[in-house]
Amino acid sequence: MKLSEPILTKRIPSFPHGDPKTRHIVGYDEFVKTDGYKALEKSLDMEPTQVVATVKDAILRGRGGAGFPAGLKWSFLAPDDGKGLRYLCINCDEAEPGTFKDRLLVDFDPHLVLEGIAIACWACKLDVAYFFIRGEYHHQARVMERAIQEAYAAGIFGKQGLMRGKSKHAVECYLHRSAGAYICGEETGLLEAIEGKRGWPRVKPPFPAVKGVFGRPTIVNNVETLAAVPDILLRGVAWWKSIGVESSFGGMPSYGTKLMGVSGHVARPGCFEAPLGIPLSTLVNEYCGGMRGGKKFKGAIAGGVSMGVLGTDQFDAAMDFDIGRRCDVLGLGTACPTIFDEDTDMVAVARNCARFFMNESCGQCTPCREGSGWIYKLLTRIERGDATSADLDLLLELGGSMGLSEGTTICGLADGNNWLVRTIVNKFRGEFERRVKPKFIPVHLVAR
Ligand SMILES: Cc1cc2nc3c(=O)[nH]c(=O)nc-3n(C[C@H](O)[C@H](O)[C@H](O)COP(=O)(O)O)c2cc1C
Ligand code: SF4
Repeated sequence: MKLSEPILTKRIPSFPHGDPKTRHIVGYDEFVKTDGYKALEKSLDMEPTQVVATVKDAILRGRGGAGFPAGLKWSFLAPDDGKGLRYLCINCDEAEPGTFKDRLLVDFDPHLVLEGIAIACWACKLDVAYFFIRGEYHHQARVMERAIQEAYAAGIFGKQGLMRGKSKHAVECYLHRSAGAYICGEETGLLEAIEGKRGWPRVKPPFPAVKGVFGRPTIVNNVETLAAVPDILLRGVAWWKSIGVESSFGGMPSYGTKLMGVSGHVARPGCFEAPLGIPLSTLVNEYCGGMRGGKKFKGAIAGGVSMGVLGTDQFDAAMDFDIGRRCDVLGLGTACPTIFDEDTDMVAVARNCARFFMNESCGQCTPCREGSGWIYKLLTRIERGDATSADLDLLLELGGSMGLSEGTTICGLADGNNWLVRTIVNKFRGEFERRVKPKFIPVHLVAR
């Protein structure tokens, strides 16, 4: 299952491997020569509502983690009340461990992202776009800043109106650098950070589409989601729907391609563009040259640590938005899997991931703040061989009680911790049980 025609990476020569010297940043002139900004031009000949309807029709599912359809989100935007600005916030925080895909688009084809941004602003009649970029992405911030300046110079953004005044609707676009915290990728944490506050997620509702940044209606979209929009508009909905897979449960389909950053124990790690639905084994064997050193597959983090892990018997899992239901993980997430070979210590993996969640918890909710530290301590004890089977039960109980879906926290960071712990312990139970001592039973309770 190889993709014959790349979509998101079509302007990136020798993607993902090959001579790095042949790779370069696609600047404004080159972008325009290769049909760049044609989709924006086309969208400006349409009514904004028609653009929203097209994206809705394409069922373009969000590439930031939750898979929420972009067109539907756009249609939820509160109507213009004429009382102030409305915003687009582009999420390029990309702090999920193992995830490196948005960075590639910014690195090499920043105008593709800017075109998606301009189209979204036209479709939803948004006035200001904030490109929120991970604090550690120094090079990418410079690349994007330069591309924004080029787009202004070419009249894409600015007071004269979109596309040198072809539309009277004017859009301003700013780069905003994150201070560097995982929680700032959560959409309402991101809004707080843009407002200059600590990145504490907000209680929802109200959702950002009603009350977002500076209290105004706001759309938050991932970089890759927006980068898919120009091709959908240029080539049409039928073409988009011809790529990917239908839902095996009669639910929402998984159309289009997806950037999949594969890391871990594979021969050739990298970021690849593949059609949704590709089996993980194909991704590993055909795109990444197989397992490193010919070792056997043991398991994988599905798509960022928050999604939980796939077990040894789930190597053929189809990488689509149904993966959660099919394989008992939280979801597809960012579709950036980390692969583990047969020599991997899964207890050490669990402890390492738990340390991440403990460090990144913002501390607002007690189950997440206290639970994440407790989980880390229990896993450290299990790894050292100092725990009993009662600790293992406690670990599962703790993990299973925290999260947005359990109704105990404000945001989904705790759900990530929950799914990581539960799936890794349940799918590799034997490995955990071998590390713990039997539960202590007081002598007077032992049957004689
Ligand atoms: C703890 C946490 C971290 C997140 N980090 C990111 C991130 O780095 N980038 C991203 O696009 N979405 C991230 N999300 C998801 C966003 O909240 C939001 O759903 C997404 O940006 C919406 O864009 P989309 O609909 O285009 O996918 C995160 C969510 C949580 C709970
Ligand atoms: S779940 Fe955790 S990270 Fe999210 S708001 Fe609560 S304490 Fe903060």
